[in-house]
Amino acid sequence: MFAWTNLLLTLSSLLHSACASQAQAPLQQPLTHLQPSDLSPRILPAATSNELLSLHRKLIEFESISGNEKPLGEWLKGYLEGKNLTVELQEVEEGRYNVFAYPGKERKTKVLVSSHIDTVPPYWPYERKTTNGVDEIWGRGSVDAKACVAAQIIAVLDLLESNKHNLPSDALSLLFVVAEEVGGEGMRFFSDRKPTNYSAIVFGEPTEGKLVAGHKGMLGLKLNITGKAAHSGYPWLGISANNVLVQALGIVLALEKDHLPGSKKFGKTTVNIGRVSGGLAANVVAESSKADMTIRIAGGSPEEINKIITKALTPLKEETEKAGGKFELEWSKRAYGTVNIDTDVRGFDTMTVNYGTDIPNIEGDHKRYEMRGILLEILC
Ligand SMILES: *[C@@H]1O[C@H](CO)[C@@H](O)[C@H](O)[C@H]1NC(C)=O
Ligand SMILES: *[C@@H]1O[C@H](CO)[C@@H](O)[C@H](O)[C@H]1NC(C)=O
Ligand SMILES: *[C@@H]1O[C@H](CO)[C@@H](O)[C@H](O)[C@H]1NC(C)=O
Ligand SMILES: [Zn+2]
Repeated sequence: MFAWTNLLLTLSSLLHSACASQAQAPLQQPLTHLQPSDLSPRILPAATSNELLSLHRKLIEFESISGNEKPLGEWLKGYLEGKNLTVELQEVEEGRYNVFAYPGKERKTKVLVSSHIDTVPPYWPYERKTTNGVDEIWGRGSVDAKACVAAQIIAVLDLLESNKHNLPSDALSLLFVVAEEVGGEGMRFFSDRKPTNYSAIVFGEPTEGKLVAGHKGMLGLKLNITGKAAHSGYPWLGISANNVLVQALGIVLALEKDHLPGSKKFGKTTVNIGRVSGGLAANVVAESSKADMTIRIAGGSPEEINKIITKALTPLKEETEKAGGKFELEWSKRAYGTVNIDTDVRGFDTMTVNYGTDIPNIEGDHKRYEMRGILLEILC
């Protein structure tokens, strides 16, 4: 669910924060409590807000669940070309395109404004309704991240059209990637081919109108346990993979409680045991079991956390293998520690978040900003 006033206000506040020295009053309000009346034409011209809302709606009407971004990528190309931008489709995988756009011919720009066009399942269609006097927009992706995509596009178009800041032709480009929700393949593809080293990149994610100062890191772990089936009346003849798994998860949870590194800025490292499966029936000793976990890192490196967990599980692993079973730990290939993000822009509150982003997926020593809209100060 997304209150559309948030989108407009965030965008318009950002538009108007351009180079202005005063803090923006609307940003000081909790965005969740805004009423439609807070959105005055003084802040955003009606034509711009109509364009923003219809673009937002169109983006949501494409399902674009990770893996199925093609129709949206192609539509977006047409839309941006219709606005006189030069558009490149980057084929990350067959039928999945990053959309990269810039004014004129200059693809090497100082600033990159970016977000993602993929969404998580299941699809929810677009719906606009009024709840307790608040005009709301519902639909998958209405917040994450199609609000960002729409706000960034409209803000950039507005900026280019008015050209009140006399932006040089190499000021900025737009990048909308695929696969952010499923590991960041799209952004890594772009990173390997980036036209230039950017001075700053704005990453559009839902941030409650605040600037994000950092987010937790991530590490994945799968356990795969193989025991030996037996009649449940004679469990000593088998090895219960379920029993081993339950013990292993108990060890991990005990570590999570107070033996994994954290930090003041990000708090505690947490472990989500997202999926567990094992065994066949109540009266059979389980022959195999599995668990999938995501570890959100608040301190230390993925390697350190890997070591701590591996060490704690080793006695159980050895015991299981001595009895004739198998105990495998499979760590995710992609892992990263905490990510610090720049916040040196005036007039914003800051916060840290626990979700991952594409920020670690693009190389370079650019400034990084995470925000729903676009920060114009960095261009001026
Ligand atoms: C695009 O550029 C052409 C030629 O400069 C111009 O005539 C047209 O109005 C522009 N369209 C938009 C949407 O800016
Ligand atoms: C970015 O900077 C690095 C280090 O200076 C340099 O090796 C690399 O070629 C640059 N990349 C681009 C795309 O300009
Ligand atoms: C789990 O281990 C078994 C036995 O070694 C193997 O056949 C299976 O492919 C493994 N499963 C996964 C998901 O790694
Ligand atoms: Zn997102």
